[in-house]
Amino acid sequence: DTFDTSNREKFRPAYHHTPLYGWMNDPNGMFYKDGEWHLCYQWNPYGSKWQNLSWGHSVSRDLIHWEHRPDAVIEPDGLGMIFSGSSAVDRSGSAGFGKDAVVAMYTSAAASQIQSLAWSDDNGETFTKYDGNPVLTLDSEARDPNMFWGAERNVWILVLAHALDHEMLIFSSPDMKDWTLESSFGRGLGAQDGVWECPDLFELPVNGESGKKWVLLCNLNPGGPFGGSATQYFIGDFDGKTFTSDTDDSGKVPTKWLDYGKDHYATVSFSDAPDGRRTVIGWMSNWQYAPEVPTMQFRSANTLPREMGIFRAPDGQLYVSSTPSPEVDALRGALVKSVSKTSLGSKARTYSIPELCEIDMEISPKKAESVEIELSNAAGEKVVMVYDAKSDSLSFDRRKSGIVDFSQDFPAVTVSPAYTDGDKVGLRIFIDRSSIEVFGKDGRFAMTNLVFPNSPYSRLSVRATGGSARLSDLKIYSITVE
Ligand code: FRU
Repeated sequence: DTFDTSNREKFRPAYHHTPLYGWMNDPNGMFYKDGEWHLCYQWNPYGSKWQNLSWGHSVSRDLIHWEHRPDAVIEPDGLGMIFSGSSAVDRSGSAGFGKDAVVAMYTSAAASQIQSLAWSDDNGETFTKYDGNPVLTLDSEARDPNMFWGAERNVWILVLAHALDHEMLIFSSPDMKDWTLESSFGRGLGAQDGVWECPDLFELPVNGESGKKWVLLCNLNPGGPFGGSATQYFIGDFDGKTFTSDTDDSGKVPTKWLDYGKDHYATVSFSDAPDGRRTVIGWMSNWQYAPEVPTMQFRSANTLPREMGIFRAPDGQLYVSSTPSPEVDALRGALVKSVSKTSLGSKARTYSIPELCEIDMEISPKKAESVEIELSNAAGEKVVMVYDAKSDSLSFDRRKSGIVDFSQDFPAVTVSPAYTDGDKVGLRIFIDRSSIEVFGKDGRFAMTNLVFPNSPYSRLSVRATGGSARLSDLKIYSITVE
C-alpha cells in the first residue's frame, strides 16, 4: 500500500507535510536513522479536531516527499492520551531495549501528566510500550520530554516543560528510566504569558566565529508576538547539568523569537541528524484558530524543514537563523522569470507568478522609505509585505488575503526585524496552497503565515515609496512536486 495525500482538497498543501486525514498538531519524536527522516506527530486519526491524541508517523528520504504510516504508531492507553515527546537512538542499549533501539519518551496525559517510554526495533514502524511506565511523575503539570545523549557527562539528558511554572526542568539518567533532577531554567525570564511547552536543547557553532553556543527552544502559548502560540528561544551555555542564558548589554535576558509569523509553533529538531545538522520542523498553525481553519479532510500542515544556525547581528547580539533545508532547493522547477537588476519607483513593476512558487529577490532601499511587495489574485485578494528601511523590518499583512473570517484572530499584520547586514535585503518567499513562508538572507529571520485565497495569487507587484530603490536577482521558480 502507498499512502499519499492525493485526496486533494483546495487548501491541502502541495509540498508541505500534512496528515493523510484527521487532526494534527505538534511534530514530535523526530529522528534520523539509516538514511531516513522520521517525523512523528500529534494525531487524531478519527476526526479533524484535537481529541484521541496519538503519534502518527511519516517517513522521508528527502524531507519533502513523505510516506504516511496508515495507523497511529503509539495509541492512547490506561495512562492517558499520548502527548508530545521526543525519540532518541539508544546506540549502546543503555535502556535495556537492545542496541540501536529507537526510544520514544512522551507525556501520558489524563488527569495528570506523567512521562512514559516506548521503544522500537524496526525504526519506528511499530512501538512497544515499556511495562514499567510511567518513568517520571511530578506533582504538577509537566510535559513534552526532550531527551538526548549528553556527551558532557555521558548521561541521558531530559528537558521537560514545567508548563504552568514557566520553566524548563533538566534531568539526567544513565538508563532513560531513573531520572535525577539537576536544575531548572526560566523563572521570570523571556516571554512568560501562557504555558511553556515543547522544549529542545542543542549546541551550534556561531557562524564566522570560533565558539559554540547552546540554544534552548521554548514554545509558549499564548503570549506570542502577534497573539496566540509562538516559539521563543534562549542562547547560552550548558554544562551537562545547568543551562544559563546570555544577557544583553544591560544585563537582561532578551526575548527572542524563532519565527515572526502567526503560524509557527511547537518547533523541535530531529535527533541524530547527519553531518552535524540541526534540522527542525514546526507546526504551521496557531492555537487561536487551528480547529477553525477552512480545511475538511485534514487539519494542519508542518513548516518546511529548516536548518538552525547562530549569527551575530548588526546590534552585536547572537540570534538563531532559520534557513530552508538544502533539500528544499530540489523543489525548484522552471525558472519562469529572472531579472538581474531594475529600478523601483512609485509605479509598481508586476510579474505573473505560478500558484506554487519560490520567489527570490534582493532589494536595495537606497533613498526609498519602504519597498512594497504585493501578491494578489484577480479577485483583489492580496498579501502586502512592506520592507521599512528606517526600522529595518518586514511586515506581512494578510487582512485581505482571502478567507479570513473564520476567526477574529486570523486577519493580522506580523512584523519581523530583518537584521540586514550591508545595504541589500535578501528574501526567499515560498508560496503553497495555504501558506507563505518568508526567509531573510541566510535565514536571518523567518516569517510563516497561513493564507486562504479563494483563487491562487497570480501576480507579484513591487514598488518603492518615498524615493527610488533597486530590485536585483529576482528569480521566480515554479514548484513542481512529483
Ligand atoms: C503543544 C501541546 C503540547 C502537548 C500537545 C498535546 O501544542 O499543547 O504541550 O503535549 O500539544 O497535543
